[in-house]
Amino acid sequence: MKRSKLLISHLVLLFSLLGRASAVPFPSGPPASPSLYTFSDPDAWPEGVATHPLSPYFYSASTTTGTIYRGHLGSPSISSWITSPTELAGLNTAWGMKLSRDGRYLFVASGLQGGVWVFSVQHQTAVAIFSNGIAFGGTWINDIAVDYALGGTGDVLVTDSLTTVLWKIPAAELSSAIAEWQTTGVVAARSLTQFADMSQWAPDPSLGPYLANGLTFLPGGRYAMVGIMSTGYLVRVDLVNGATSAVSKRTDVNDKVFAYSDGLLYRHPYLFSVNAVHDPSHPSGPLQDFITVVKLSGSGSEKYLKGDIVGKIESTTFNVSTTLAFAGANIGDALVVNHQLTGGVPALPFTISRIPLTW
Ligand SMILES: *[C@@H]1O[C@H](CO)[C@@H](O)[C@H](O)[C@H]1NC(C)=O
Repeated sequence: MKRSKLLISHLVLLFSLLGRASAVPFPSGPPASPSLYTFSDPDAWPEGVATHPLSPYFYSASTTTGTIYRGHLGSPSISSWITSPTELAGLNTAWGMKLSRDGRYLFVASGLQGGVWVFSVQHQTAVAIFSNGIAFGGTWINDIAVDYALGGTGDVLVTDSLTTVLWKIPAAELSSAIAEWQTTGVVAARSLTQFADMSQWAPDPSLGPYLANGLTFLPGGRYAMVGIMSTGYLVRVDLVNGATSAVSKRTDVNDKVFAYSDGLLYRHPYLFSVNAVHDPSHPSGPLQDFITVVKLSGSGSEKYLKGDIVGKIESTTFNVSTTLAFAGANIGDALVVNHQLTGGVPALPFTISRIPLTW
């Protein structure tokens, strides 16, 4: 074959391939993920969600029964995973949740029960209970964060919406409790450690409860952020000495950033704050569901202490959303739990929304 003929035959082949490609489009990228995950349990009233970058599974749980559910990021239905946590380990209500840094343990905040229940993902059973010793109703263990930072400690912090203590599970105590369970087979009983005093950021008690809630570690290993739903403050906590400072606008140190965070998630340099009850001092006002995007800045001792509200993420699928987590390894998307907090007759099924973190 002559060169020109060869060239022409290649061109013909190329055009016929292009023609095929436009007639039958090839799918681009990975298969589409569901944009809504649904619970079959009509009593779920879910509040928390936990994911891990190395796992395709996500976990949620019921505030009314403590039942723990597991879903797969690629499938729309969420099933029960631990159906009798009360019989298993006395857990009867579940709020914020996180997975351990290695993804092998699931932490569940137990609200008015005053503790953090730790479950083994592999064995699907309870391994430890970290309690603060406060009688039922005097405490409200609401959200949990794990120090995942590169070179971070693996420590766990825990917000309490009634007492103004920020609680902690040091990584070493977690390891020792797990080792005890591995040796004895008995659920290890431990205490939560008092870490920081948050009372400076609470409202006057006559104005209502304190309501610390959303919580996340920040990159660098030095700070975490706590959201106070009553006063709206975002409070940076120094992990070395427990010192606290509220985030203010870049332009004026006295002008605080109000986020009323039920759930917090950080993707540098943005802090995502979920809360439907934007100003609890006006509880009769309409609930407005959205994620507030706060760009954090500041350097040196002011690191993460400056904030600008730069966006708002909304979805018609939100319904009194309480918190959010990355969609596994995909930090471009978030899972958002729709708790429907208002009570009464729920709109079934209960759901978790999957949304892109764009605005
Ligand atoms: C949210 O849930 C409530 C019931 O809890 C229901 O009445 C309402 O229609 C739901 N809203 C949306 C947008 O789904």
